[in-house]
Amino acid sequence: MPSTLLPKRVCACDSAVIEVAHPCRDHVRVKVAVPGFPASVPGQFVELRCGQAGTNAPRERCWTDHGPTEAFETSWLTREPYLRRPFSIADRTGDEQGAQVEIISRHIGPGTAFLDVLKVGDTLNLTGPLGHGFDLPSPNRSAILVGGGVGIPPLLYMSRVLAAEKHRGAHLVLGAMSRDLFPVTCSESPAEDGRPRRCLQLPGGAPYAATVTTDDGTIGLRGRVTDGWQRLADREQLSDPIVYACGPSAMLRGVAVLTRSLGWDCQLCIERNMGCGMGTCLSCVTRVRDESRPAGWRWALACSEGPVFDRDLLVEEWDHAAR
Ligand SMILES: Cc1cc2nc3c(=O)[nH]c(=O)nc-3n(C[C@H](O)[C@H](O)[C@H](O)COP(=O)(O)OP(=O)(O)OC[C@H]3O[C@@H](n4cnc5c(N)ncnc54)[C@H](O)[C@@H]3O)c2cc1C
Ligand code: FES
Repeated sequence: MPSTLLPKRVCACDSAVIEVAHPCRDHVRVKVAVPGFPASVPGQFVELRCGQAGTNAPRERCWTDHGPTEAFETSWLTREPYLRRPFSIADRTGDEQGAQVEIISRHIGPGTAFLDVLKVGDTLNLTGPLGHGFDLPSPNRSAILVGGGVGIPPLLYMSRVLAAEKHRGAHLVLGAMSRDLFPVTCSESPAEDGRPRRCLQLPGGAPYAATVTTDDGTIGLRGRVTDGWQRLADREQLSDPIVYACGPSAMLRGVAVLTRSLGWDCQLCIERNMGCGMGTCLSCVTRVRDESRPAGWRWALACSEGPVFDRDLLVEEWDHAAR
């Protein structure tokens, strides 16, 4: 197994919450100011301590099934998450001395409930940037950024980075179950027929057209992200396209199948349970192809070799796409 301990340079520190917004139901966007946050790339992530900063001890807090109660700050009735929680970097500005880092979290359990009630001025302890992110496309390639649900945030950061590089040919295809679970602000209505339109407020004012899909059709095209993207492929002149995708496993398998049938390159950002985020706990293993092994594959750690992998390396997605 390759060495997977801490990558290059990582910051582990308290950060100050400087902006909080609730872009849609169950989601919170949190921006923090981080002193000494090393250079990062889209697809990398941070591990957040979803509890009182500055202490390593597991603590007891007042949680209900729906999140913290009003007595949250002072009560000690049920357990606070002990392990950190991984979140993709949704945006990053500033330099290494003073960076602003943004995450978008969907509330699904106790850790994300903690993020849901953060206020400006609170402290959030983070470790990052972690993992291996997306490889940026060469300037003449069409980049298609495909995001579903909580897989949307790294593609937003990617749009900022591509715009800063003055990359011309980029398109977004973003999907959610319904409008009230779509965590991006629209500057105008996305097209119902999937036509790419500059309808989203992207980080850094990135000037890219987007196709938005929802399962129930409450915004944009009714259907899945793969439906939206097929419309894009039909309408746009794409030059040597490469797809960058992040989202639920079923969506990634769909993207793997489609890109393979079209002969397009593709990088997938996968999600696994991650206990440490830095190659020590082995909770995030995934199978990758390796012809030098008798079985033709080996275990890889998604937190440090990934979470971004070339589509053809991932055994589950590749097997599916090859069928
Ligand atoms: C690299 C990476 C990047 C991520 N980026 C984001 C992000 O940008 N925004 C965001 O909202 N979430 C993101 N996630 C998922 C996020 O880490 C989990 O939602 C979070 O850890 C849940 O913590 P919790 O304590 O609220 O819930 P938990 O109590 O840990 O989980 C509640 C329920 O959700 C299930 N669950 C937890 N994590 C996952 C998962 N990764 N996939 C499927 N089911 C899960 C659990 O099994 C349990 O049933 C990312 C995960 C990874 C690995
Ligand atoms: S999350 Fe601990 S080894 Fe990957």
